[in-house]
Amino acid sequence: MDNNPLWYRDAVFYEVPVKSFFDSTNDGTGDFNGLRMKLPYLHDLGVDAIWLLPFYKSPLKDDGYDIADYYSIQPEYGTLDDFKGFISEAHALNIRVVADLVLNHVSDQNQWFQDAKKSRDSPKRDWFVWSDSDAKYSGVRIIFIDSEISNWTWEPNTKQYYWHRFYSHQPDLNYDNPEVREEMKNVIRYWLRLGLDGFRCDAVPYLFEREGTSCENLPETHEYFKEIRKMMDEEFPGTILLAEANQWPSDAKQYFGKGDEFHMAFNFPLMPRIFISLARENSFPLINIISQTLPIPDNCDWAIFLRNHDELTLEMVTDEERDIMYNEYAKLPKMRLNLGIRRRLAPLVDNDRATMELLNALMFSLPGTPIIYYGDEIGMGDNVYLGDRNGVRTPMQWSYDRNAGFSTADNEQLYSPVVTNPNYHYESVNVESELRSGSSLLNWMKKMLRVRKNYSELLGRGGIRFIDQKNRRVLTYVREYKDQRMLCIFNLSRRPTYVELNLPEFRGLKPLEAITKSPFPRIGDLPYFFTLPPRGFFWLNLTVPDHEDEKDFDD
Ligand code: NOJ
Repeated sequence: MDNNPLWYRDAVFYEVPVKSFFDSTNDGTGDFNGLRMKLPYLHDLGVDAIWLLPFYKSPLKDDGYDIADYYSIQPEYGTLDDFKGFISEAHALNIRVVADLVLNHVSDQNQWFQDAKKSRDSPKRDWFVWSDSDAKYSGVRIIFIDSEISNWTWEPNTKQYYWHRFYSHQPDLNYDNPEVREEMKNVIRYWLRLGLDGFRCDAVPYLFEREGTSCENLPETHEYFKEIRKMMDEEFPGTILLAEANQWPSDAKQYFGKGDEFHMAFNFPLMPRIFISLARENSFPLINIISQTLPIPDNCDWAIFLRNHDELTLEMVTDEERDIMYNEYAKLPKMRLNLGIRRRLAPLVDNDRATMELLNALMFSLPGTPIIYYGDEIGMGDNVYLGDRNGVRTPMQWSYDRNAGFSTADNEQLYSPVVTNPNYHYESVNVESELRSGSSLLNWMKKMLRVRKNYSELLGRGGIRFIDQKNRRVLTYVREYKDQRMLCIFNLSRRPTYVELNLPEFRGLKPLEAITKSPFPRIGDLPYFFTLPPRGFFWLNLTVPDHEDEKDFDD
């Protein structure tokens, strides 16, 4: 593997649940060996790092975010040796692997909780948060509002309530207890020694509780992560921490500390605003939020995503913005969950190819590290009738064979049905067919990732400057790094449009369309004029022309 210390800034990540990718044992569930067999696909796609969803032993009542044993692997996913084999083969392909780490809570099946609820004197009792009254920490918001009515649940054996920010089967750990803090460091060490390159840390804002606060983003939480970071820098240099902190920009930014806390954090503020800007055909929400989320320390980066394994969360938007989102993207009640929308990218945009390309081109060119959600590179559909968030977690579609080529088990045995809705049926939306079609979304994504790789420092580390112009339907910015510059122009609207740009500081430079290297006229004194098709975009590399009378076209 390369030894680029800022690898996470230059990378493209791919999010994948082990169970959903490829089933090598024909039991209906994906596994580590299956994932290993598909590494060449990911390499060919052009991803640099994989984010694995939780694979630890679990009753799977929250798809693995309910961990029963932090030191073992869910048996259907394979053995520890399979895990190690997968990691070393990924590394051989120069692909890094980060894994989910659930710090805030455990499964109620976890031995720690089982012991804790045996008696009030149990040595593990203080590993959890107990109270005689469910009025403690009143006012703290409930996150899973569709299924929980309180953050407290009664434990009948010891006759006290225990605290949980998510499902009632996920008791929160007590981070005021030094043993808990130490144990989690041991978990981290254990998996890093086995070769992981870092962690996507789940639910980080909620580790500590303090009366009279929202129990989110407390200073104690930041201190604890700084300790973890220090330990990782000392003992496992080159490994990283990525924060899942779904918060307002000012709170989300805090997780970078002074460059001494998380290396990365998901850009939750940006994600819904991308869709709001699109729905309103107005660049303002995007420009506004990006300005609020920058600057951040140089050794840090945002992780940018369009969709992931959860609902498209709308917790941190205004009521007005939420209404826009529901009206545009979730017309059926079934499409909504908690404060969000449980849909994949392709169905969200009505399977419109130009819009999918526009959104991906935005994600690949905005400041931050892009994360592709498995299946979105082929335009997979979803199934909103599957309950919870399972509709966006269906098997990867490899071919038009039985079970979409995911598994040769009987189809009743699959952990989830494959997508058969005619618009997204696996018989046409699958890797094999798309690889054969030059114009497929998959081939377009591969091309874009190759182009992005040519500009990985510019797009990964460069600054952003918005270009002021009159047409709100068009988003225009320049990315700049050392002597490189990329001008990016996006038509957010469903109509063709034009934009006039004053670019005096780039006078004399020659734009080369970055994907095809097609030349554009030099920038002169007059405003530069662009026309754009509906949802069209340009990435233009601003180059210094090498001779005076360059010829743009063959005769
Ligand atoms: C965030 C995860 O992304 C989600 O899937 C999970 O249900 C909650 N955290 C609780 O762990």
